[in-house]
Amino acid sequence: MQHAGAGDPVAGKLKSDSERCQECHGQDGNAEDSRIPKHAGQFAGYLVKQLQDFQSGARRHEIMVKMAADLTPADMADIAAYFAGQPVMQGRLEHENPRAKSLFESGDPARELASCESCHGKNGKGRVENGVIYPVIGGQNKLYLRRQLLNWKLGERKNSTEAVMNKVAKALADDEIEALVDYVSGL
Ligand code: HEC
Ligand code: HEC
Repeated sequence: MQHAGAGDPVAGKLKSDSERCQECHGQDGNAEDSRIPKHAGQFAGYLVKQLQDFQSGARRHEIMVKMAADLTPADMADIAAYFAGQPVMQGRLEHENPRAKSLFESGDPARELASCESCHGKNGKGRVENGVIYPVIGGQNKLYLRRQLLNWKLGERKNSTEAVMNKVAKALADDEIEALVDYVSGL
């Protein structure tokens, strides 16, 4: 699996320090604050897409729009390569969660809800198919995951190809989102 893309991870390590990315996202991309996403082992192409989307306004966030504003394409590729090259983010499941596990692995045919796994791969560790990157979500920080699912559901975030994530999140009840973020962050 090609996680790292074409950037230079050595330059990216220095740039992610001087551009202050590590202050929030962690030295090795494992952000400690649960509201901030981990980048460790995330696909470089996915990280670059998000930075482009913050620059273009396709994805909104007060802090990140400012942080991304001055990055050149080379900065983005290098920083993404550095974080993508770290061992992939890992959670720790602390209790059984059969409802979330079932939604994650099997979806719900009655609602035409595809399983998370069918796109995000086994344990949510991500995949690439036909040029679409399905990001790593397994082991991602819990409060960040919750915010994103609610943002997709409310239409606050709408930068996924063909609005797939808006459709998925709209089909989920709020208590299912709660159960899912608890489960997915532990994978
Ligand atoms: C002050 C804290 C802070 C700093 C500094 C910061 N970020 Fe972020 N970053 C965040 C937060 C918070 C989010 C979550 C945004 C949201 O909720 O949509 C985020 C989201 C992201 C995302 C989206 C990740 C995903 O999984 O979709 C990327 C990529 C990113 N940041 C890269 C960077 C880079 C590169 C830098 C340095 C140039 C940087 N960040 C600096 C706080 C920060
Ligand atoms: C049909 C395919 C598909 C299905 C099914 C799907 N996803 Fe996604 N998901 C995507 C794509 C594509 C993206 C990347 C969007 C982008 O490029 O910004 C994404 C992004 C996400 C993100 C944002 C990750 C980040 O770092 O910001 C979360 C969280 C997420 N999905 C959770 C889920 C959960 C939970 C489920 C199951 C309930 C699910 N997804 C089902 C395709 C899918």
